[in-house]
Amino acid sequence: MTTPSPLWPARLHHIKITSDQPPVLLDFYQRVLELETREVTDGVWDLRGGERRFLIGRGKRNGLAFSAFAIPEASRLAALKSYIEGQGIATTAGTSPLFRAEGAFSVADPDGQILTFGTPAEAPARQDRLSGRLQHAVKGTPNLEKVVAFWQALGFVLSDEVMDDKGALTAAFVRSDEEHHTQAAFRTKDPRFDHFSMETRSWNDIRDWADFLGSMRVNLGWGPGRHGPGNNLFFMLADPDGNMMEWSSEIEVMPRDMPARQWPHEAHTLNLWGGAWMRS
Ligand SMILES: [Fe+2]
Repeated sequence: MTTPSPLWPARLHHIKITSDQPPVLLDFYQRVLELETREVTDGVWDLRGGERRFLIGRGKRNGLAFSAFAIPEASRLAALKSYIEGQGIATTAGTSPLFRAEGAFSVADPDGQILTFGTPAEAPARQDRLSGRLQHAVKGTPNLEKVVAFWQALGFVLSDEVMDDKGALTAAFVRSDEEHHTQAAFRTKDPRFDHFSMETRSWNDIRDWADFLGSMRVNLGWGPGRHGPGNNLFFMLADPDGNMMEWSSEIEVMPRDMPARQWPHEAHTLNLWGGAWMRS
């Protein structure tokens, strides 16, 4: 029997989004997600809530510069780095100012997309008025099978696969703790940032968020609905750059050893309640 990866359990701690109009994005995120903002370095801002945290950096619009996973224990972080290098995957020094430099490291997936692992430099500073913990980030890729195999080599566990009628993979969801997915990828023509999601504590929180957003005249884009893979209730909307933001509730819990399932590539899979955003 092979040794399991020390990755488990790991949660998404923050993501870095790049934009060619950071002030517009900063203003939107600050208001809509109720975040405190500070400039970290020239052209990079830290947007901090209690359970949701983002870096916004000047750069290409719709860029996901990296996803950052928290490994709170220094010994497990070191064990994970050794494990990953043992899989023949190159690591580099960490890339996020929100992690302690010591022990933090990064890897690049087959598209060159960065994942970084580290120990958070500080504990959450406050409680959020409306619950919404940054929970997963999703990408589009023309190299879906390779990306999924890469994630599995790191220690992510396959939860659900979506297949077209020719048996080709069109989407995959992987987990690094018992929540159904902490990452996912859709088959797309070019690599791109798809969306990120915040997990609320209940369906009533989804209602409260929609009321709050409505009061600011921020319109929902897709949903409310219920995803097949993950079984979570959700709605999504686009930020001013067109990045999709998701609010979710009741995401499915799957033990580590629970086998992956397969879904057909159809709108019903992505939204059991109706119409879907089909990426391919
Ligand atoms: Fe999602």
